[in-house]
Amino acid sequence: SDQSAFDTDVWTLTRFVIETGRQAKGATGELTQLINAMLTAIKAISSAVRKAGLAHLQGMAGAVNVTGDDVKKLDVLSNDLVINMLQASYSTCCMVSEENKELIITPKDKRGKYVVCFDPLDGSSNIDCLASIGTIFAIYKRVSESEGEPTEKDALQQGNNIVCAGYALYGSATLVALSTGTGLNFFMLDPAIGEFILTERNVKIKPKGKIYSLNEGYAKYFHPSINNYLKHKKYPEDGSSPYGARYVGSMVSDVHRTIAYGGIFMYPANEKSPKGKLRLLYECNPIAFLIEQAGGMATTGTQRVLDVQPEALHQRVPFVVGSPDDVNEYLSFVQKYP
Ligand code: AHG
Ligand code: MN
Ligand code: MN
Ligand code: MN
Repeated sequence: SDQSAFDTDVWTLTRFVIETGRQAKGATGELTQLINAMLTAIKAISSAVRKAGLAHLQGMAGAVNVTGDDVKKLDVLSNDLVINMLQASYSTCCMVSEENKELIITPKDKRGKYVVCFDPLDGSSNIDCLASIGTIFAIYKRVSESEGEPTEKDALQQGNNIVCAGYALYGSATLVALSTGTGLNFFMLDPAIGEFILTERNVKIKPKGKIYSLNEGYAKYFHPSINNYLKHKKYPEDGSSPYGARYVGSMVSDVHRTIAYGGIFMYPANEKSPKGKLRLLYECNPIAFLIEQAGGMATTGTQRVLDVQPEALHQRVPFVVGSPDDVNEYLSFVQKYP
């Protein structure tokens, strides 16, 4: 291969998407346009995130969103970037965003056949302390029979119908994890050329890890199955070593570490949030899709996340994902302590 530091046959995400798109039957290039538009928004968000403090983008935007979160200035900027870039790609008919109560219907003259559910900025409670944050998206095809005005029905699809999903992680580097259904791939942003470069193809999660990740501050309100599972991780009766604990509080960070190192991430239900906190359409479904592409598992505790039939745009579900052996061990505690 080319020994020079400069790869003259570099696999950019754009090239990867074109390649994949051409293999899709009846490809019109619309999905390629859509993904590239999302990437443009992600590059712009990455730039804004890294300048946030300098551009007075930290702090509150002075509003509360439909799911009760305080909205930060960077939440608003990221949301506007994604909506504008995607609508300008002529590939969407409607969208769902954490920051918009209602379905976002694409202007008639700009409509295409895809539906996008996205979390423009995930982990926004971590903006002002400079911890890693992310962006999450899931892409669906509009259900064939509905032709007229897009409705919520177009967005209330099971995660099984996802055609493409991904997340961006604004960490020590900016990474995009993406899958179109044939494996999970990692791309790193090379700021010098403004391109995402393929760094890992068909990533697989370890069958079992050594790290558990959840906010134990809610322990007082957890169901006994959770606290008994955690006890087993901390004081194993079978002589195995206790697990390590890691929790960033930005799901994209916690999930990416779980894929990279193995283990389990949980945002379970608790007495104060009986369905947990994470939202099905733009947090749980895309991550569940990606984790399964990596050979991992994603459950609500009672069913596979991708099988949940959504009823509302911002509905929450309890969320447990990670290495299959770890998730199955957790499920055995759900059985033991119903
Ligand atoms: P968002 O910033 O998009 O509202 O999401 C924040 C979520 C998720 O990123 C993280 O796992 C969780 O909130 C952390 O919640 P707690 O602070 O309750 O642990
Ligand atoms: Mn939020
Ligand atoms: Mn989020
Ligand atoms: Mn968010």
